[in-house]
Amino acid sequence: MKKLIAGNWKMNGSLDGARGLIADIVNGLESGDGTVFSRCDVLVCPPFLHIPAVRHALHGYPKIAFGAQDCSVFENGAHTGDVSAEMLVDSGCSYVIAGHSERRQNHGEADEVIAYKARIALNHDITPIICVGETAEERATGRAEEIVSAQIERSIPDLGPFDIVVVAYEPVWAIGTGNVAKPEDVAGMHALIREKLKRKVPRPDLVRILYGGSMKAENAAGLLALPNVDGGLIGGASLKASEFITIIGAA
Ligand code: PGA
Repeated sequence: MKKLIAGNWKMNGSLDGARGLIADIVNGLESGDGTVFSRCDVLVCPPFLHIPAVRHALHGYPKIAFGAQDCSVFENGAHTGDVSAEMLVDSGCSYVIAGHSERRQNHGEADEVIAYKARIALNHDITPIICVGETAEERATGRAEEIVSAQIERSIPDLGPFDIVVVAYEPVWAIGTGNVAKPEDVAGMHALIREKLKRKVPRPDLVRILYGGSMKAENAAGLLALPNVDGGLIGGASLKASEFITIIGAA
């Protein structure tokens, strides 16, 4: 399966910074041997307000996709502060992150809400990246598999034969901490997710399972070589063009 390397810029940077970052990523990738896109899909997810600038920078350069970090559960209407899936389509987005642990924690998003967001995205031909992952406490008490299994069961909506989703396994304790999960734990969890998907979705073989949580230039090659690791969702390291490009190269 072709890997997907996705940058989650989170709530970082200025408009000028976003313009500079995407320009540096394009220039860096173009100065490479040119084969990278045959092996790997590349995606960036800027903050909502920076999406138009990234779209402008990528005009005529479809090799890099862009997407959003969240969308509303509602189609439209009186939902102050929300951004609809339709607006994301209008802005050129082809992906949306759904249920990142920071949304689950900071905004109390439950699995059912995330499934709804993923469904709305699919209805608008946007590919959702559905995030799952256990907390440190859940891992310490031996419940990581149980928690992630339940999240897979409840956060992925019912899919039709043509609905494609991406799943991101992001242990909460690994995000932004520098504490990357052990290779055997990543491989084990990705295998479990693949098994769960077989009972949950019509085409489990088409679901890319990304690893996220302190993936960076120096550990990317090892993580991306693990079975069932079909790419990465990268936070901090996606904010430096050179580091992001190294990760893409590792894929
Ligand atoms: P990190 O974030 O790479 O900074 O750990 C990953 C994510 O939250 O998607």
